[in-house]
Amino acid sequence: MRITTPKNDIERVLFTGEQISERVRELGAALAEEYRDRQPLMVCILKGASVFYADLCRAMDCALFMDFIAVSSYGASSKSTGVVRIIKDLDSNITGRHVVIVEDIIDSGLTLRYLEELFASRKPASMKTVCLLDKPRHGGGSGADAVGFDIPDEFVVGYGLDYAGHYRNLPYIGVLKKEVYE
Ligand code: IMP
Ligand code: MG
Repeated sequence: MRITTPKNDIERVLFTGEQISERVRELGAALAEEYRDRQPLMVCILKGASVFYADLCRAMDCALFMDFIAVSSYGASSKSTGVVRIIKDLDSNITGRHVVIVEDIIDSGLTLRYLEELFASRKPASMKTVCLLDKPRHGGGSGADAVGFDIPDEFVVGYGLDYAGHYRNLPYIGVLKKEVYE
């Protein structure tokens, strides 16, 4: 397995690429079953969810549509600010449609709560959130309807997740050494 990073700064691997694919296949199969005749609009929260999203959509054997929204809540820091900025909005009108929000990780849940409120104001027929990773919730934010893995309260990178833009292309999910961000 590839573990090379610029400074060998991964503390340990939490989930290998194989473990992730296995779980993503399960999530995809369940979604395909649930949305079989509803032609869901799969919404990717850029950039962190991009890798998970591409795999999840391909694991869904049903008709679906794809759209992307880019938000920023972290800047280059490792702590949530609670302030969400929309950098690129959806291209699609979601009114009356079945929306599935695909997120990489929930920490405080503030990003998700903001997006759920924004999308709800556009009156979709239904809305569901799928998140690959879930940390123990501290803040007043939202949780996901479906979760890939519960993880401890540590800063993780890889499989789309970054620290200051680095590590998104690691094929596994690993805990970043504390000295990198403290
Ligand atoms: P929340 O608003 O605190 O739930 O933060 C959610 C966003 O913060 C996610 O979409 C990620 O972009 C980022 N984030 C939270 N925890 C981590 C982590 O451990 N690694 C990388 N990004 C994270
Ligand atoms: Mg991020």
